Amino acid sequence: MATFSNLSLLFVSMFVAAFAIAAADFNRDAQITWGDGRAKILEGGRMLTLSLDQYSGSGFQSTNEYLFGKFEVQLKLVPGNSAGTVTTFFLTSQGEGHDEIDFEFLGNSSGEPYTVHTNVYAQGKGDKEQQFHLWFDPTAAFHIYSIVWNPQRIIFSVDNIPIRVFNNDEAIGTPFPKSQPMRVHSSLWNADDWATQGGRVKTDWSKAPFVASYRNFNINGCIPGSSSGSCGPKATDSFSTQGWQTQELDARGRNRLRWVQQKHMIYNYCSDSQRFPQGVPAECKRSRF
Ligand SMILES: *[C@@H]1O[C@H](CO)[C@@H](O)[C@H](O)[C@H]1NC(C)=O
Repeated sequence: MATFSNLSLLFVSMFVAAFAIAAADFNRDAQITWGDGRAKILEGGRMLTLSLDQYSGSGFQSTNEYLFGKFEVQLKLVPGNSAGTVTTFFLTSQGEGHDEIDFEFLGNSSGEPYTVHTNVYAQGKGDKEQQFHLWFDPTAAFHIYSIVWNPQRIIFSVDNIPIRVFNNDEAIGTPFPKSQPMRVHSSLWNADDWATQGGRVKTDWSKAPFVASYRNFNINGCIPGSSSGSCGPKATDSFSTQGWQTQELDARGRNRLRWVQQKHMIYNYCSDSQRFPQGVPAECKRSRF
């Protein structure tokens, strides 16, 4: 018996070690997709920076495609006057009728808050925007941004605080992304025609290059067709004791979500009756948990 438990202990530690070794590495898990040298992988793969100047922005994508998973990164946004710049962290499929899950960070003049923009597209159709202001300065330090995508729901979180849940409401006719594999994409680009205060505040190129920094790019997801068929370890979160595969909010998570939505949400498509004169979409009438 003693031998048996020692052996299982050994296997458990080997298992833990295997995932510890597989720590975030941009050289392995990401590919720079554009920007002609403006995106840089640094510190042996532990850090990545994107930059933007008058001529171009830059971007990267995940090496693999995933069908469901938990996608997390630590991000330090462009400091100072970042008006006109947009930093993105999103999942998207390719081709027509695409699915997409978006985190976008719209820069602002010095001292004014960034806007965190979220959206979900299913089969090419979006129009599910919610926007937030953060409860901290996202340019002063790294903060954790994550997307959990499982067959039941999508959870957007900031520093492990859920800010939005988009449920699978296919039962009432709302499309949900669930069959097209997606890749993570991230970019820093200029959008001063609309991004900041509706396009009124333009990018100040005398402050260029603008730089956003990334670290701890961690994905636990299912890679379609991978030989192992593995969906990664069942990581847990502070707002849930379940793995991402079945993750939902517990009472603490629901309280935190309520706090964010009451205090920090600045736009919700579900409350925009002017935009939907025939009535807001069906899923808006359901519980947001
Ligand atoms: C920028 O700051 C203004 C003023 O505080 C605010 O209304 C706006 O939501 C902020 N964000 C963007 C992207 O314009």
